[in-house]
Amino acid sequence: MSLKNLLIFVTCALLASHGTAAPAAVSVASLSASSSMASESSSSLAYYSSTASEGVAWSSSENEPSSTSSAPPVYETVAPASDDPNYVAWTPDYTGTPEAIRGSLGATVIGPQNVPLDLENPDFLAPPTTDNGEVPNAKWPFSMSHNRLQTGGWARQQNINQLPAATELAGVDMRLEAGAIRELHWHTASEWAYVTKGSVQVTAVNQLGQNFVGTANQGDLWFFPAGVPHSLQATNATEDGAEFLLVFDNGSFDEDGTFLITDWLAHTPKEVIAKNFQAPISVFNELPDEELYIFPAASPGPDSDAPVSPYGTVPSSYTFAMSQMPATELSGGSVKIVDSHVFNISKTTAVAEVTVNPGGMRELHWHPTQDEWTYFLEGNARVTVFASEGNAGTFNFQGGDIGYIPAAHGHYVENIGNTTLRFLEVFKTATFQDVSLSQWLALTPPAMIEATLNIKAEDLKYFSKTKPIVVGPAPVNNTTNGTAAA
Ligand SMILES: *[C@@H]1O[C@H](CO)[C@@H](O)[C@H](O)[C@H]1NC(C)=O
Ligand SMILES: *[C@@H]1O[C@H](CO)[C@@H](O)[C@H](O)[C@H]1NC(C)=O
Ligand SMILES: *[C@@H]1O[C@H](CO)[C@@H](O)[C@H](O)[C@H]1NC(C)=O
Ligand SMILES: *[C@@H]1O[C@H](CO)[C@@H](O)[C@H](O)[C@H]1NC(C)=O
Ligand SMILES: *[C@@H]1O[C@H](CO)[C@@H](O)[C@H](O)[C@H]1NC(C)=O
Ligand SMILES: *[C@@H]1O[C@H](CO)[C@@H](O)[C@H](O)[C@H]1NC(C)=O
Ligand SMILES: *[C@@H]1O[C@H](CO)[C@@H](O)[C@H](O)[C@H]1NC(C)=O
Repeated sequence: MSLKNLLIFVTCALLASHGTAAPAAVSVASLSASSSMASESSSSLAYYSSTASEGVAWSSSENEPSSTSSAPPVYETVAPASDDPNYVAWTPDYTGTPEAIRGSLGATVIGPQNVPLDLENPDFLAPPTTDNGEVPNAKWPFSMSHNRLQTGGWARQQNINQLPAATELAGVDMRLEAGAIRELHWHTASEWAYVTKGSVQVTAVNQLGQNFVGTANQGDLWFFPAGVPHSLQATNATEDGAEFLLVFDNGSFDEDGTFLITDWLAHTPKEVIAKNFQAPISVFNELPDEELYIFPAASPGPDSDAPVSPYGTVPSSYTFAMSQMPATELSGGSVKIVDSHVFNISKTTAVAEVTVNPGGMRELHWHPTQDEWTYFLEGNARVTVFASEGNAGTFNFQGGDIGYIPAAHGHYVENIGNTTLRFLEVFKTATFQDVSLSQWLALTPPAMIEATLNIKAEDLKYFSKTKPIVVGPAPVNNTTNGTAAA
């Protein structure tokens, strides 16, 4: 423990024993410790010598602080935060028995234990001591969603029933075997999609009679405005067909509540159907009696087989080849941001696809007005959601998990594994927006930051006037190292 830490430790212990945040007595030992700081660097000398010479908070007795002409520094009115780094208690490669222990806190689990779940969620069983109060649940693994199995594929969803905080957006993970069709349908929400595997042919016709047929490959997007009828079909470009993520701009969206063409026609008198199309009723002898939803079919022909509309094709493509877009390289990973400024039609959904190298981190930030619906594609993450009023909760994620972070809530996404972490931040908005803590601090008058955070002027250099977005591993040798907390 450094001398600084010793001083903080003694002070905190005393504050705790007094059960008050008022200035507390401190031992002569720590005062002499602070005066011996002269052997440290000049910067820490400046810091501690002022403490020692003013002799206010850390000095004798519980008397009123000696009066000075200027306002007291923050460290004289509020105790310093613990210097416990609060590393994750165990990392993803840990294979022992996880215990509800952090330092001197907690105890072993001696009742029933779901070890695989505890291994996946170290920050639930042994949370950092910085966690506090109530934060709405921010995690839902698709693995815990009921799956709807069909011939040719499946679909599972997350909406407010699974994750009550997720009021703005809902998600569906859908799988189609090669050739399988998610039938012609529409719904009240808009539909945004990211192809996680394979390739999908998407078709749509808008209210102006303009049509669209296109293909989205792995890493590509599609978007259908609310109410626009569409269909999806996995191609045979890969033997296995396709899997994709759908995100809807309504947390109450229900994938089982969409408008399907077969469902409609099965519930319309056949004489009306025949009259509508001015066709003999026998044309409709074989109409399905109920909705098909997902069903097998031959692989689709080329996109160019689409009928020619007298009104042309849609003016803005319903697909976007995000896989072909170059990523912005960052010190700790990379990012691609796609919103309506590049994917014109996608007016109600924006995305950032983020990669974080081992040890790196999506920086501390928040989104000013939009909730974030996060989808983890691979790797292992640690996220703390800061909810104001001292409330903070830490969650762990891996590929296939959903996160949900309400608007304006501060957070970071740290890679705690030794493989690449990759995830999507999805928003109900036309324009991606975030606020960087580092940039905020760098662009605020320095004296304000020094006084607020109780840091030295020369350390302001650590704040960046440009958004780091994803930072690399800690610059010192104090990164997560896979050892369970002592
Ligand atoms: C969201 O969906 C629910 C259920 O379909 C619906 O009642 C509600 O009106 C929708 N909200 C918006 C803003 O469209
Ligand atoms: C893929 O589907 C197309 C269109 O149905 C078909 O012509 C082609 O032979 C199929 N390819 C394979 C490898 O099955
Ligand atoms: C964007 O949409 C407008 C119509 O809404 C269209 O005229 C324009 O060509 C589109 N731009 C791109 C790049 O798709
Ligand atoms: C991750 O690190 C552990 C040791 O901490 C090692 O056993 C494992 O092979 C590593 N995995 C990868 C993918 O590098
Ligand atoms: C690790 O950190 C300590 C204390 O900051 C330092 O003395 C040591 O040189 C560092 N070691 C490496 C390998 O960076
Ligand atoms: C890094 O860890 C070493 C012990 O491994 C410790 O002495 C040092 O103070 C730490 N440095 C920082 C900046 O936390
Ligand atoms: C790993 O971290 C733990 C505490 O988190 C520490 O006790 C241990 O010394 C570290 N090991 C190495 C090799 O840095």
